[in-house]
Amino acid sequence: MSGLFITLEGPEGAGKSTNREFIAGRLREVGMEVQLTREPGGTPLAERIRELLLAPSEEPMAVDTELLLMFAARAQHIEQVIRPALARGAVVLCDRFTDATYAYQGGGRGVPLARIAQLEAFVQGTLQPDLTLIFDLPVEVGLARAAARGRLDRFEQEARGFFDAVRQAYLARATANPRRYQIIDASQPLADVQAHLNKALPQWLELARG
Ligand SMILES: Nc1ncnc2c1ncn2[C@@H]1O[C@H](COP(=O)(O)OP(=O)(O)OP(=O)(O)O)[C@@H](O)[C@H]1O
Ligand SMILES: [Mg+2]
Repeated sequence: MSGLFITLEGPEGAGKSTNREFIAGRLREVGMEVQLTREPGGTPLAERIRELLLAPSEEPMAVDTELLLMFAARAQHIEQVIRPALARGAVVLCDRFTDATYAYQGGGRGVPLARIAQLEAFVQGTLQPDLTLIFDLPVEVGLARAAARGRLDRFEQEARGFFDAVRQAYLARATANPRRYQIIDASQPLADVQAHLNKALPQWLELARG
């Protein structure tokens, strides 16, 4: 039996991390084993790569370095956590995955999408999420939430135009493949977002199981 691979995506401060516990709780209630994880990171080694990626530093990070570190962390995460969990039939619930690379390195940094697709095929083979929830909200709302959370990481320090491009890249991916993506209005109060998740999750799981 193979499990189900669900990813949570969306720009800064959209509520991915806040809602992952909620979603995991709903899935566990109906008897599913949930492997909760995140990117970049998800294993001790991949979390060290995450620190390299997020820490502001004097030396500017080359765009290709950033891209390759993302996929290096992902390769480790897939081998150590994602594939084993799916093989034992678990639901993998992952806070950010390759859609974030398309959005941030592609949309935000301007890496050609074909270049990302090459690395995606190299690292993932045919592995793709079964369901991707995009938490969408106006850029300024998300940035205000992220700022209220404290010190800004290397990505959060980017200019406004970067985040507009990130948001548009996510929405473009969802539009191009509506079967895999569900867009959630994350600008609503948390209770409303969670009421919507609660109501819609069963049908999304049905769809994802195809
Ligand atoms: N619907 C909501 N309404 C108001 N505040 C919210 C809502 N959802 C989350 N928040 C708050 O916004 C902040 C950012 O949320 P969270 O960390 O879950 O976002 P995220 O999508 O994981 O962001 P990042 O991409 O930076 O990791 C948190 O302080 C959280 O409590
Ligand atoms: Mg988060």
